[in-house]
Amino acid sequence: MKFGLNITLLLAVELLAISCTSEISVKHANNLSSVVSVSESVECLWLPIEESAPEAQVTAVGANDRIAPLSVRLSQTKVDYYMPISMQGVERLRVENCSYENICWQQLTTTPQAPDSSYRQDVHFSPERGWTNDPNGMFYKNGEWHLCYQHNPYGSKWGNLSWGHAVSRDLVHWEHLPDILYPDELGAIFSGSAVVDEHNTAGFGEGAVVAIYTSAGAHQTQSIAYSLDGGMTFTKYEHNPVLTSHRADFRDPKVFWYAPRECWVMVLAAGNAMEIYSSANLTDWTFESRCGEDYGYHTGVWECPDLFELPYEDGTKWVLLCSLSIPERGGSSVQYFVGEFDGHRFTPDKKQPEADLLNYGRDYYATVSWSGVEDGRKVVVGWQNNWDYANDLPTKGYRGYMSIPHQLKLVNYSGEPKLVAEPAQEVMAHRRTLISKEVIEIKDKYNAWRHNSDEGAYVIECNIENLSAQVVGLKLFNDSGEWVDVCFDFIDGLLRVDRTNSGELDFNPRFASISVAPLSEATRQSITIVVDRSSVECFTDIAALSNLVFPNEFYSRLSFYTIGGSAAINNLTIKKL
Ligand code: FRU
Repeated sequence: MKFGLNITLLLAVELLAISCTSEISVKHANNLSSVVSVSESVECLWLPIEESAPEAQVTAVGANDRIAPLSVRLSQTKVDYYMPISMQGVERLRVENCSYENICWQQLTTTPQAPDSSYRQDVHFSPERGWTNDPNGMFYKNGEWHLCYQHNPYGSKWGNLSWGHAVSRDLVHWEHLPDILYPDELGAIFSGSAVVDEHNTAGFGEGAVVAIYTSAGAHQTQSIAYSLDGGMTFTKYEHNPVLTSHRADFRDPKVFWYAPRECWVMVLAAGNAMEIYSSANLTDWTFESRCGEDYGYHTGVWECPDLFELPYEDGTKWVLLCSLSIPERGGSSVQYFVGEFDGHRFTPDKKQPEADLLNYGRDYYATVSWSGVEDGRKVVVGWQNNWDYANDLPTKGYRGYMSIPHQLKLVNYSGEPKLVAEPAQEVMAHRRTLISKEVIEIKDKYNAWRHNSDEGAYVIECNIENLSAQVVGLKLFNDSGEWVDVCFDFIDGLLRVDRTNSGELDFNPRFASISVAPLSEATRQSITIVVDRSSVECFTDIAALSNLVFPNEFYSRLSFYTIGGSAAINNLTIKKL
């Protein structure tokens, strides 16, 4: 055995250049270390990836903006998909922990590979390639909505965290742009926010876009980077990090301008609570307060805060968002607290152990708002996924989606402020009517719609007036026998969204599920449902539920049903998004 291995090693060392094309040359220094170089004309190399392969370490030697080694699942025995690596300014790739016997060496190519299209949604953002989790660094400037996101550009599982970047003028169509922040000697680029520094408080330049993010290395610290070209390219601040802590979990800075004190405020997750800091210039930060230790769910580490003011009754209220895992409420969730903020300290109106959730579906996490929205609305987007199964979603080459953008409002519900999400008005502006019916009276079952051509994502709106039923539901289904049931249970006062027969389920045992939200006492229940190829987002007057689904074909049919009586469906419209 030992003897065999030595021979292998010897052979490998002697056969220094075993894989070569005219453009790509691979040299194996020993059985686990190799060097790949390409001819000067090659700008991009396509790496063959096998999702279940162990991670090899790839260092782009000579690329000064990408000095950290990348973890890449280079193919051992099969190619699941390809990921591109820019070779501009790169002298060679040094590859460690990848056997010279793996098939990746023969499969390296300079031929561009098409991105995967399976389960791609029409109006829900997903990265062109690679993994995404949280939305990051969102700002609005000159009519453009910028969306950055946690991105693994070298594989569709979590890793190599960088900031991907996309831009939209209408919150429906997204243009993919090059990544803007790569890991460096301080660590991976975890979540954070971006602001436009109109008055040049930081000294980088008037109107500079400043990104504030977590550098996740041996410690989690906060760093900044600035852009002088409207957010297309960023330069990291030379004195990073700008904020450190003794805490292991210290991340996800969300920064906003607080006009009454004329300063920047940062809220960030620190262990099982939030911390608030202030700054005059985005570079020097002063600790203000810590909050949340004695209220809310604490079933997981607190993550991805946001803190903002919303109109309520005749005045305003402040809202603190906090993402965390709550196993008894379906895993990844966003809890929120309503209260007051005086520029130093957030004080909740109530200190309940079980906070309300912003969204009652399984797939809505890490929700934060865009900065700089001119009319003051709080437009947010959530990661449409759940850490319970995020790495297993049945897509290849890309993985993860964002919700459609939502806008938030506080409504008076039983005498208390309740945070409610609805689709952003920009998304709803994009509609063309497919059907419209004023009143339909139903008893038992009514087939409302069958869509013959595949026109893509659509939105259903109606209000449901319960006449004498116990349950009124609507069912989305396709010709493969797959369905999603949205059911108003007037006996229990609950809305249930059942995806246990929605399509592909077995990629993870925790995916099949029924999500549950409270129902208001209104006799007419309004409902808006955004149906895309792999998600169903429902909005009532008091609750939103965002859920992924993976049907074999699009849901092209809609029926209503009642149990125990009749109901009227008023003002039904189905519009193409
Ligand atoms: C939330 C989160 C953040 C962190 C990021 C890392 O999903 O864990 O707290 O910054 O993901 O990818």
